[in-house]
Amino acid sequence: MQISLKPCKDPSTLASDCLVVVCNTHFGDVAKAVDQATEGTLSALIERGDFKGKVGSTLLLPVVTGLRAKRLLLIGRGSKDSISDADFDKLLTAMINTLDKQQGKDACVLFDNLQVEGRKPAQLLQRCAQLLVAAQYRYTETLSKPKPASTLRQVTLQGSNTEANRQAVDRGLAEGLGVNVAKRLGDLPGNICTPDFLAKEARKLGRKYEAVKVSVLDEKKMQQLGMGSLLSVSAGSDQPARLIVVAYQGGKKGDQPHVLVGKGITFDTGGISLKPGAKMDEMKYDMCGAASVMGTMNAVAEMGLNLNVVGIIAAAENMPSGRATKPGDIVTSMSGQTIEILNTDAEGRLVLCDALTYAGRFKPASVIDIATLTGACIVALGSKAIGLYSNQDDFAQELRDCGEAARDRAWHMPLWDEYQSQLDSNFADMANIGGPEAGSVTAACFLSRFCKDYRWAHLDIAGVAWRMSGSKGATGRPVGLLCHYLESKAAN
Ligand code: BES
Ligand code: MN
Ligand code: ZN
Repeated sequence: MQISLKPCKDPSTLASDCLVVVCNTHFGDVAKAVDQATEGTLSALIERGDFKGKVGSTLLLPVVTGLRAKRLLLIGRGSKDSISDADFDKLLTAMINTLDKQQGKDACVLFDNLQVEGRKPAQLLQRCAQLLVAAQYRYTETLSKPKPASTLRQVTLQGSNTEANRQAVDRGLAEGLGVNVAKRLGDLPGNICTPDFLAKEARKLGRKYEAVKVSVLDEKKMQQLGMGSLLSVSAGSDQPARLIVVAYQGGKKGDQPHVLVGKGITFDTGGISLKPGAKMDEMKYDMCGAASVMGTMNAVAEMGLNLNVVGIIAAAENMPSGRATKPGDIVTSMSGQTIEILNTDAEGRLVLCDALTYAGRFKPASVIDIATLTGACIVALGSKAIGLYSNQDDFAQELRDCGEAARDRAWHMPLWDEYQSQLDSNFADMANIGGPEAGSVTAACFLSRFCKDYRWAHLDIAGVAWRMSGSKGATGRPVGLLCHYLESKAAN
């Protein structure tokens, strides 16, 4: 999709399949001009009560005179001077859905006096671009009659073509693209999206962008590195594990990278601690952390951010078999710490701990892991907030702010020492489960033992990575949060 910027001098001269006017019943300059050009159509619609300007309400005029646009779409922005982020998203979603149905090729969007609390105009453009692109996502791969693609190719947003505005739009486009990359990988079934498939997708990314280099460690290499914990998860599967490293160099060679580590369990049966059958299909989404790393790396490369980023994906399939790890088995992680595996369904932390130790090799400026780690996180926070943990409170605060800015919100959870003893084991340095209380916290405690040497945060995305009710599908979260974080770290 192409998005261009144009300052709006005279709306009647804008040629397009649809002119969108976001307004309420009190006209500013834009709505006034459209009203005049259409000989009072807008005022008439308001007078008759056809358009009340409620937030997210839509009124489409398929035929309109006095404009060079073929159609006119009114979107309500509510009566307040300054609206909330939530209302802004609501009206954008309404606009995009209506445009989608019309099957036009292009559209022109005008905001009449629109202000959003605490947001600069450039941020609104960025959000608009992101949502426009993200709405183009269609899952097609395994459908013999896929839903038709969106016809919308070109959108003009009202705004002066300044460097800041252009950058905002381009970043929004890249974020939307990254979100869609993450959604696609998440939605693909476990028999297609295997650890090796993820490795091949990463290699494709490396071919697409000059600044991206990809390397893949196979099981033999992981064995040599001592990744006994990660390998204990893939032991029962016919699909070999992969540790995928996607390195983006946009900064200077010596600049310390920011590292993202994704949980890439391409299917989680629970292993010998087998999960119950209901909804087990949803465990194809257990690689959504990895998908968000791929999506973010894609976005960062697309934006050409001026910094170094390393994405590490711990990819494995968790299956029961004669070779599978059993409850009570003890493994040695790459860090040298031993782990008593009391439940083979707590496998995410087992692959992540070795990937987190490996992350230390890059002398990282920061490390963020992203994982559909615990059902307990869904109990605690539901499907809205990401569970956020960190070994440095100011880092947690920083990421919380990024989530807020990106409309991809996280909530800071406790990582107090008092919880650590729940992981005590008589037979190993630690157990891989911490009992029935505070399951999301003890999972984070487990990971923290492998992240002592760097600035680290953990995002438990179990509740937010896919929609569990309504129409099932990956959300692409938290690509937005991660992009905003990395954008804030880049100098350009
Ligand atoms: N992938 C699951 C967590 C999960 C479950 C995410 C449902 C989203 C929806 C993870 O591997 C898991 O099975 N965790 C266990 C841990 C327990 C055995 C300590 C859980 O949450 O039940
Ligand atoms: Mn599990
Ligand atoms: Zn899992």
